[in-house]
Amino acid sequence: MKVLVVGKGGREHAIAWKVAHSPLVKEVYIAPGNAGTSKVGKNIPISPTDVENLVKFAKEEKIDLTIVGPEDPLAKGIADIFQREGLKIFGPTRDGAKLEASKVFAKKFMAKYGIPTARYGTFDTPQEAKEFIKQIGDRVVVKADGLAAGKGAFVCQSVEEALKVVDDLMVKGILGEAGKRVVVEEFLEGEEASYMVMVDGTQYVPLPTSQDHKRLLDSDRGPNTGGMGAYSPTPVIDKETEDRIRREVIERTLKGLVEEGIHYRGFLYAGLMLTKEGPKVLEFNVRLGDPEAQPILTRIESDLVQHIVEILEGNIKGVGIKVSPKWALGVVVASKGYPQKPETGKVIEGLQEVEKLDNVVVFHAGTKREGDKILTDGGRVLTIVGLGSNLREAKERAYTAVEKINFEGMQYRRDIGDKAFKYLG
Ligand code: AMP
Ligand code: GLY
Repeated sequence: MKVLVVGKGGREHAIAWKVAHSPLVKEVYIAPGNAGTSKVGKNIPISPTDVENLVKFAKEEKIDLTIVGPEDPLAKGIADIFQREGLKIFGPTRDGAKLEASKVFAKKFMAKYGIPTARYGTFDTPQEAKEFIKQIGDRVVVKADGLAAGKGAFVCQSVEEALKVVDDLMVKGILGEAGKRVVVEEFLEGEEASYMVMVDGTQYVPLPTSQDHKRLLDSDRGPNTGGMGAYSPTPVIDKETEDRIRREVIERTLKGLVEEGIHYRGFLYAGLMLTKEGPKVLEFNVRLGDPEAQPILTRIESDLVQHIVEILEGNIKGVGIKVSPKWALGVVVASKGYPQKPETGKVIEGLQEVEKLDNVVVFHAGTKREGDKILTDGGRVLTIVGLGSNLREAKERAYTAVEKINFEGMQYRRDIGDKAFKYLG
C-alpha cells in the first residue's frame, strides 16, 4: 500500500513512523512533513490545507490510504473531497469536524445529547457575553468559537479579566473571525485527561488513555500551549472512570452524530476534566492529540494501518488493538518564545546520540534539514518519548535523552508525569 500522512508536527511523525512499521505498507508520504519524517518516508511539499493539490497528488500517485493529522484540513472538508473522488481517507467530513471547529456547535451538541460538560452560554455580541459573566462571577473560561491553534481558551481569575477577554476577542478581534462568537463557561475543578477512540460511523475502538500538560511551565503555570508533554497510560482514568467516559461521553457522542446524520469516520478525542461529579468534556478534537499521540502510538504493538483499513471496510469488530504493557512518557522540547513568538533557525545538537538510545524514540515537529544540519523551524521542536516498565523508568529515559539535546533557547518542562505519582503511590 501507499499511505499519505497529512501534517508536519510531532503527531504526524509518530503516525508516519507507525505506518512505516506496517508490513502492508510499501511507501509512506508525508505532506509536508519535517526533518524527522523524511527518515521514515518521503516528504511532499504540499501544505496540509492545500486540499486541491493533496487530492491531485493522491490521484496521481495512486495513494491507497490518507491519514489526516491536524484539524484544519478536516474543517476545510478534505475528507468530503477525497471521498467524492473515491480516495480512502481516515478523518471525519466537514460536518463531523465541526465538533472541534466550532465550540458553539460542540456545546449545543453536548447539551442536546446529554453529554456532561461545563454550564455555559454562547454569545454573538459583547454586551450579552458580559451580562452573563457578571452573573456567574469570578471563575469563568471565555472561549473563541472557531479554531485558534490551542490559543482560543482563556481561563480567567476575575470578572474584570473576563470582560477584557470579551473585548479583545469580540471588539478588537485579536483572533479574527474565530473570536467573533464566544462561549463563556463555568470553571471546572479537577484533573485533566485525554481519551481517544477510533470511530467507524456507529461503533468505536478505544485507544490507550493519556494525560497532556497544557501549560508552558512546571506546576501548570504560564500560558496554555498546544501541549508540553504527555504520558500513557494515565492512572487518573481508572477502570470505573473509563467505563463512565465510554458510556456518558463516547457512546452518547456517537449516538448524537448518527442522529444528526453525520457519518463520522476517524479519530475522536475527548478532552476531559475529571470532576467530583464525574468526567466532563472540555473540548472535542476530531483527530489525535499532539503530544498525546506520540506516547500512545509507541505503545501500540499491532498494525495501525490494518486497523484503519478494517474500520474503513466496515469491519470494526475485527479490530484487535494490541497495547504494550510498557509506560511511555513524551517530553516536548520547544523554542524560546513559544507559544507567543518562537525563535527559529537554531542548530539542534545531540540528535544522533539520542537516536541510538534504547527505549527512546525521538519525534520531530518544527525541524528542517539544511545541508547536514537540522535546524529548529517552529514552536514545538521535538517530542522525546521514553518507554519503561513503570512510569518512573519511562520518565528517566525520556529526560536522560532530553538532556543530551541542545539548541539555543530550548525550553521544556521538568515535571511531565509527576501528577501521576500521587495516584501510583
Ligand atoms: P480547550 O481549548 O477548550 O480545551 O481549553 C484549553 C484548556 O483550558 C484546557 O485544556 C483546560 O486546561 C482549560 N479549560 C478549558 N475549559 C475549562 C473549564 N471549563 N474549566 C477549567 N479549565 C478549562
Ligand atoms: N494536546 C492537546 C491537543 O492536541 O489538542
